[in-house]
Amino acid sequence: MSSKNIESHLVEKRVFKPSKQFSKKARIGSMSAYKKLWEESIKRPDKFWAREAAELCWQEPWKKVLEWKAPFAKWFIKGKINVSENCLDRHLGTARQNKAALLWEGELGEKRTLTYQQLHREVCRFANVLKEHSVKKGDRVIIYMPMVPEAAIAMLACARIGATHSVVFGGFSAEAIRDRISDSQAVVVVTADGGYRRGSVVGLKKNVDDAIKDDAQTIRSVIVFQRTNQPVSMTEGRDYWWHQEVAKVNADCPPAALDSEHPLFILYTSGSTGKPKGILHSTGGYLVGAYTTSKYIFDLRDEDVYWCTADIGWVTGHSYMIYGPLANGATSLMYEGAPNFPENDRFWKIIEEYRVTIFYTAPTAIRSFIKWGDHWVTKHDLSSLRLLGSVGEPINPEAWMWYHNTIGGGRCPIVDTWWQTETGGIMISPLPGAIPTKPGSATLPFFGVDAAIVDDNGKEVGPNVGGKLVIRKPWPSMLRNIHGDTARYKEAYWSEFKGVYLAGDGARRDKDGYFWIVGRIDDVLNVAGHRIGTSEVESALVSHPVVAEAAVVGRPDELKGQAVVCFVTLKEDVTATDQLRDDLKKHVRHVIGPVATPDDIRFAEALPKTRSGKIMRRLLKQVASGGAITGDTTTLEDLSILSKLGSSED
Ligand code: PRX
Repeated sequence: MSSKNIESHLVEKRVFKPSKQFSKKARIGSMSAYKKLWEESIKRPDKFWAREAAELCWQEPWKKVLEWKAPFAKWFIKGKINVSENCLDRHLGTARQNKAALLWEGELGEKRTLTYQQLHREVCRFANVLKEHSVKKGDRVIIYMPMVPEAAIAMLACARIGATHSVVFGGFSAEAIRDRISDSQAVVVVTADGGYRRGSVVGLKKNVDDAIKDDAQTIRSVIVFQRTNQPVSMTEGRDYWWHQEVAKVNADCPPAALDSEHPLFILYTSGSTGKPKGILHSTGGYLVGAYTTSKYIFDLRDEDVYWCTADIGWVTGHSYMIYGPLANGATSLMYEGAPNFPENDRFWKIIEEYRVTIFYTAPTAIRSFIKWGDHWVTKHDLSSLRLLGSVGEPINPEAWMWYHNTIGGGRCPIVDTWWQTETGGIMISPLPGAIPTKPGSATLPFFGVDAAIVDDNGKEVGPNVGGKLVIRKPWPSMLRNIHGDTARYKEAYWSEFKGVYLAGDGARRDKDGYFWIVGRIDDVLNVAGHRIGTSEVESALVSHPVVAEAAVVGRPDELKGQAVVCFVTLKEDVTATDQLRDDLKKHVRHVIGPVATPDDIRFAEALPKTRSGKIMRRLLKQVASGGAITGDTTTLEDLSILSKLGSSED
């Protein structure tokens, strides 16, 4: 973060108190109520979490709330629970039975509503399809789907029978699917013939075919949902149509009694090495976390229409489109497509039409809306909104103010929620009826979260001093491991400070104890809310035959937060051309997926290195953002390299 930003944090004087009207109805309606509960949750976590967990339905009660043998936590020991039962069956036989669980709008404007009863039926049927395909408790299932209700149905069906799902974002490539199949040893892939994105069709099935064409690895069946009706190739004995399979089974599928620690899902995310980490989440603890955070932070009520715009392929889609809201019996809206299709006001049209009350989106989207202009917003009636949320990256105070005024009409609290794939649920966020907000701050820790900022020695720093964000106590929805790589789990999160979780973010607290998240301290970029490891892009680049060496850094970007800038040296006798630049961009798209497309590729004769051969990324970052080279360059092997690093293509 630039010193200018840090300063703006220090001088940020604007404070927005929750309105009396909001606080009166909210679950937690005052700062003192928040503090009291937070203190209890830290001093007596067993008591606090037992009370929350007891609101869910357990097939067998737990014997002990927590067993913590750092860095391994077990929550609700010996309890038996089923996530799909809690999201569905629990609401049947109540007033929620015929309430909309999912409201869906396709990009082309189609609409579907699934009540809790209907969703339950579809989930039971698909769970029976999985059983027919010999999917057993503990087996892994890859879900590579567009944003259609069937994606949620597939996830809940896995949860119902105890299969562990791994959702792969639709913007990832065939190679990414192949890697995830190989790492997870999945037995089934659930996909669709295609999905719609900005009016064109994304060939999901084609990517799955490419992923398994030479070697199906452990995959036995591919189940294909028909979304676009475009022709796809179906391999006899391996590929099956969703609609044909569900027609063969009944809707009777009791929820399996699963151990609280049973793995609910694996979600791959980027770290600081080339190989994505399979973040493993549990059943009981994860659900208690998703349920409790949704209840208090979104202050969900039965009459709400709640809309989280995240894709189901990210953790936000898991916890706050599906599991958290449904466990609370809420109505969750799902939109398939892009915010600017067919025009820039699609989101506002949806809010107006469905009378959305809670809207949860990402700063990168907010910055695009600002750029597109207020007139797209003001022609719609957004008066139904009562609460706004932000997630995925730091929100700059200007974007926060615009969100507050132009979308929220000045009346809606904003919950800026800090968390990660690893944390499973929101960790730092305002409680909308209790905690005054400051533009750009995620404010204070959620119940049970013992967050702190420490220096390199692990010592807590004072107000307004930057440091590393850590969590000092286990929490129910924390990751349990990295699938198949316990050593990496220990190394990545627990090795720097013993028994303390290292989030990988830099942050500071102000004099009121409010957290201001600065951004990643490792080699992970946050591009339009997508987490991308620089080393993943580097290994994609060097896998191209003409590339000798590559270094990838982030550059501040007005819309995306960060842009991907690549410095590339070519093998001898290869000429740098614009065509080659385009080819390399395409190559990265092909290897990782469109989310990682480089914004800028600069050819260099050599990369700046220390005498010991380490690439000096700090210098490259400065070059990438067009800034002057500052700081120590004495360890640089060859100073002349800096002047030859080539300029941006544009
Ligand atoms: O750097 C932080 C940023 O996103 C990272 C986590 O990314 P991911 O695992 O993909 O999960 C995103 C959705 C939870 C964090 O390490 N981040 C997330 N939310 C915020 C944020 N940075 C600042 N403020 C936030 N509210």
